[in-house]
Amino acid sequence: MNKKFLDLGFQPLANEYLKVFRSNQIKYKLKIYFDTVSKMVSISKRIPSKKMFNAKYPYRSSISRTMRYSFKNLSAEIKKRFKPKIILEIGSNDGALISNFDRNKVIGVEPCKNLASITKKMKYTTYDKYWNFDLARKIKRKYKSIDLIYSANTLTHISNLNDVFKSINHLLSNNGVLIIEDPSLLECIKKNSYDQFYNEHIYIFSAISLKFLLKRFNLEIFDIKSLSTHGGSLRYYIKRCINRDLPISFTVKKQLKKEIKYGLNNYSTYSLFSKRVIKSKKDLLFILSKIKQRKKRILGYGATAKAVTVLNYCNIDKKLISYFTDTTPEKINNFMPGKNIKILRYNKDILKKYDYAFLGAWNFKDEIFKKESEFIKKGGKFITHVPFPRIINK
Ligand code: TMP
Repeated sequence: MNKKFLDLGFQPLANEYLKVFRSNQIKYKLKIYFDTVSKMVSISKRIPSKKMFNAKYPYRSSISRTMRYSFKNLSAEIKKRFKPKIILEIGSNDGALISNFDRNKVIGVEPCKNLASITKKMKYTTYDKYWNFDLARKIKRKYKSIDLIYSANTLTHISNLNDVFKSINHLLSNNGVLIIEDPSLLECIKKNSYDQFYNEHIYIFSAISLKFLLKRFNLEIFDIKSLSTHGGSLRYYIKRCINRDLPISFTVKKQLKKEIKYGLNNYSTYSLFSKRVIKSKKDLLFILSKIKQRKKRILGYGATAKAVTVLNYCNIDKKLISYFTDTTPEKINNFMPGKNIKILRYNKDILKKYDYAFLGAWNFKDEIFKKESEFIKKGGKFITHVPFPRIINK
């Protein structure tokens, strides 16, 4: 049974940045549910993929050093540990991962044509199509089977998980490996990062719910790695149940145990989380309004989809946060979705005019703090809401 535990109000499409602010930008109700049988956490309202993932999609994986480094390390591991002949990436974005492989060894799938054109220009085979069974069939006709399929922060964005895994099953060789990575539900709940929920994040996986889901496709997790990316992610290594060549690592049991101990299989954990989220909203608004009463200026740092959830849930507009800044060309000079806060082009002096910076990209805190050491040295402070609202300078 699907039980609601959180209501994040009305939210615009998290990546719909408008050039001219419109107070009537379309918003959708964002409610979060827990399935008491499959233990899956998901959002209720499903927006058609074409509305979210199209030629205007602004998110680029290569934009941060942290992500480039993570993909580089993973590629080295894939080459050494699995020695695949051919690799397929579902959601290859701007090529942050595939660019680490030889052109004849890797295939990208990326439905956002603006991003697919980047890897096509780099001469990487890229299918600018949505991941589905038709595409899997088409790829199979050409390549027979694939021995390594990788997907980061993509499968959880697709509503029909049945079709997602049926298609993977169709292509994966018998001793093939599927690696997927996505934000960890345990980290999200522990860190109170309710901003992981937005229309694109249809599901937030836990090892518990993924194990349950994979069983239907005769697939199983054989290794798990914890990552610091996206505020705490899990990388799951998956194989066919019939493949006995790959031993199941203790990391799988360890993660499952941790999740059970924290209560991820019980509804009560989620209803407590929801109470903490309500308090987080109150406390963040209190901090921001106190700062504004003292006539100080606040800049939003990192115009992330996560920040969009926070602004729209907490009803924060330009009276509290004057501007945002971001390095992504597609976001600059647009407005934060749903709010009248403009995004300014990042430059190294931008923080000079501000007393506080709200960490929209809190998941890149270390990278940002290193970059902004001058601001901090001169007394500048950051505001974060993770794991609870507070002012920080280290
Ligand atoms: P993400 O949290 O969804 O990965 O998005 C990160 C956003 O933050 C992306 O739009 C780029 C932006 N960003 C900056 O503007 N400056 C930075 O130093 C970093 C690390 C990210």
